[in-house]
Amino acid sequence: MEKVILTGDRPTGRLHIGHYVGSLRRRVELQNSGEFDKIFIMIADAQALTDNFANPEKVRQNIIEVALDYLSVGIDPEKSNIFVQSAVPELTELSFYYMNLVSVQRLQRNPTVKTELEMRKFEGGTPTGFFCYPISQAADITLFKATTVPVGEDQKPMLELTNEIVRRFNHIYGGDVLIEPQILLPDNAACLRLPGTDGKAKMSKSLGNCIYLSDTAKELKKKVNSMFTDPQHLQIEDPGHLEGNTVFTYLDAFCTDDDFAQFLPDYKNLDEMKAHYTRGGLGDGTCKKFLYNVLNTRFEPIRERRAYWEQRIPEVYDILKKGTQVARERGIRTLEEVKKAMQINYFDDKELIAQQAEKYKG
Ligand code: TRP
Repeated sequence: MEKVILTGDRPTGRLHIGHYVGSLRRRVELQNSGEFDKIFIMIADAQALTDNFANPEKVRQNIIEVALDYLSVGIDPEKSNIFVQSAVPELTELSFYYMNLVSVQRLQRNPTVKTELEMRKFEGGTPTGFFCYPISQAADITLFKATTVPVGEDQKPMLELTNEIVRRFNHIYGGDVLIEPQILLPDNAACLRLPGTDGKAKMSKSLGNCIYLSDTAKELKKKVNSMFTDPQHLQIEDPGHLEGNTVFTYLDAFCTDDDFAQFLPDYKNLDEMKAHYTRGGLGDGTCKKFLYNVLNTRFEPIRERRAYWEQRIPEVYDILKKGTQVARERGIRTLEEVKKAMQINYFDDKELIAQQAEKYKG
């Protein structure tokens, strides 16, 4: 079977290092592994509009930001198709058919949507489009017959729903038109949900606790220096706590033994460093300096690639346009199969036309 990746992001802001460890880094590895026949990376503008419908300018501005972030982390348009969701109308059509296969009650149980609804506090009720976005996400995945969906943990309920829809569709309409995708979560616990610099559960633009991929070295240093650590660790000699200590969570997510050799040769690895911190005698300043160096070496090449593409914006739009064409070609094919299975391909169905003609012959 063909191995196909589909994944994507809502263009509501620049991507941050939570996106990086949660998904982007993995995507680049998968892309370069050569194990996949096709890779589709979608800028989910239509989904972004489900809660930003009154602010299309924000979505419009952020298409290019997300595209620049993709290119800068090493998504290679020769190997991965980057495309724009709203420019593939087949997605909308497929979503409409899927709506019949999902109950309102089933949608109400989606924990990610529940949390988002609490955060968004929509005035005047939940927009139907927002409520239904998990269905549209199932269309995103299945229109491309994706087998693998590398995403963060919060997307798990969407993948569960997708698989239910696939089973239901194949059961009702017969055959094996649709494919059940597999979710690919980060394998390191620290990467599942990287906390914000303030130690709060999630890195989020609205909380102002993000480190962006496009932050300068100076901004990065400032943010690392103000990071939440262990409030009880007042003196260097005091024993420190690792639990909830954001600096160590980030080190878990980012650092390798090579970083110690390069920046902090007092320790061979993170375990040794943690042991010293817990024992007492290792200051937060040293830890932060190390973390800054680790992050800066990771993000320097990313920043450089961003600067390169920032000078080639029309070319970036061209990449999106070409990627979208390729995505559409695949989408059109799947939708034809879907409509055939659903028996709504009236004009292409010679047998149907002949049958109907026969019925009315004298
Ligand atoms: N919901 C995803 C997010 O908020 C974006 C997204 C839309 C997506 N469609 C998708 C991710 C399909 C994976 C597969 O980041």
